[in-house]
Amino acid sequence: MAPTAPDSLSAQEVATLSTKAIAAKATAYCPYSKFRVGACILTQTGEYISGANVENAAYPVGTCAERVAFGTAIVAGHKEFKAIAVATDIKPAASPCGMCRQFMREFTAPSFPVYMFDADGDYTVKTMGEVVI
Ligand code: THU
Repeated sequence: MAPTAPDSLSAQEVATLSTKAIAAKATAYCPYSKFRVGACILTQTGEYISGANVENAAYPVGTCAERVAFGTAIVAGHKEFKAIAVATDIKPAASPCGMCRQFMREFTAPSFPVYMFDADGDYTVKTMGEVVI
């Protein structure tokens, strides 16, 4: 299936991604960094799958919100994805790290939209091909 362009999401889909990614911050396990990250994926079948960062005393063992959300979606059987939202408590919004971009690239095209929500709930959207650290 052809990748979905960022402008193809409806206002309702963006609003739901926002609500769910922001809510997912509350589920983060981040006692070391205290940096909460929530994520939510919209699948092509219209389901929303959330994740949050889960840290570990050994830093590289911890997992980012994006990878928790994508892993959850994959093991639930989803194969096609419309967009991901990532929410943090900072401004400007954070973009996915290199490991997350590599992880997401396995399942998405360079045109896959990444919505990045900041502390105020405002967002910027870039494609996977555009996001940089
Ligand atoms: N983190 C994410 O979960 N996603 C991002 O896009 C940026 C960073 C997490 C990893 C770690 O738990 C904390 O934020 C600080 O880097």
